[in-house]
Amino acid sequence: MSETHPHTMRLQRFLARAGVASRRGSEAIMTAGRVTVNGQVASELGTKIDTERDVVEVDGKRVVWGDTPVYLMLNKPAGFITTMSDPQGRPCVAKLVPTDRYPGLFPVGRLDFDTTGLLLFTTDGDLAQALLHPSRHVTKRYVALVDGRVSDDELEPLRSGMILDDGPCKPAPARVLTPRAARAVWNTAVPRGASVVEVELSEGRKNQVKRMLGRVHHPVLRLHRPAFGPLELGDLERGVWRLLTDGEIARLRAAAAVSEPHDSKEG
Ligand code: URA
Repeated sequence: MSETHPHTMRLQRFLARAGVASRRGSEAIMTAGRVTVNGQVASELGTKIDTERDVVEVDGKRVVWGDTPVYLMLNKPAGFITTMSDPQGRPCVAKLVPTDRYPGLFPVGRLDFDTTGLLLFTTDGDLAQALLHPSRHVTKRYVALVDGRVSDDELEPLRSGMILDDGPCKPAPARVLTPRAARAVWNTAVPRGASVVEVELSEGRKNQVKRMLGRVHHPVLRLHRPAFGPLELGDLERGVWRLLTDGEIARLRAAAAVSEPHDSKEG
């Protein structure tokens, strides 16, 4: 298998492209000894394969190269954790998407148990990795119902970049929304003594929106994500998924600055 052969690629990249897991997840599967190439266990991360000729199996099941990757969005309801399985048996988002039709689907990033909104799923490990990479600055838009009456000035620390326990945050555009915006999201009036705030993040740290708004003394009561990068939830019902359109996939790829699928570049 030569370096210049057009179908040669690193095994972890092949697994990610084939939708087995994210790139990092694929590496973990390899080092756990679950992957074979032509019947031989391949746990070395540098292993290269010929995608045309080599037979790759994970847990004894053939991994087929060249299947078109799948992209879909879910309007995640509250009460589900963002994982494809949970040893403790808690409800997870895997129940809400067609994993039998599209094996290898996984969520891109995560939303908290009680957060609703746009959760992207794909079988395309490269795109997922690119979208989540901090250098790509893919914007996530959140709408939060918060305790207390918020003035625009109070959001200035978010806009200028606040410091949280795990380090400084990138400046996050933030503004107070009208009560009508809350009705669009939750179909309820804004409770007395609460406000609705929109925050745009270009990073994705744990509980970041909740921690930022908590820091300015407006704890989050409800959190919803209407947009992820160029994707908008629109009027997709809670708990419902749909495949992305070709236009949405192209815009997503542009946002992540990823080349077209099935090229043979190493990286
Ligand atoms: N920020 C949070 O605090 N929670 C989420 O689910 C997403 C962003």
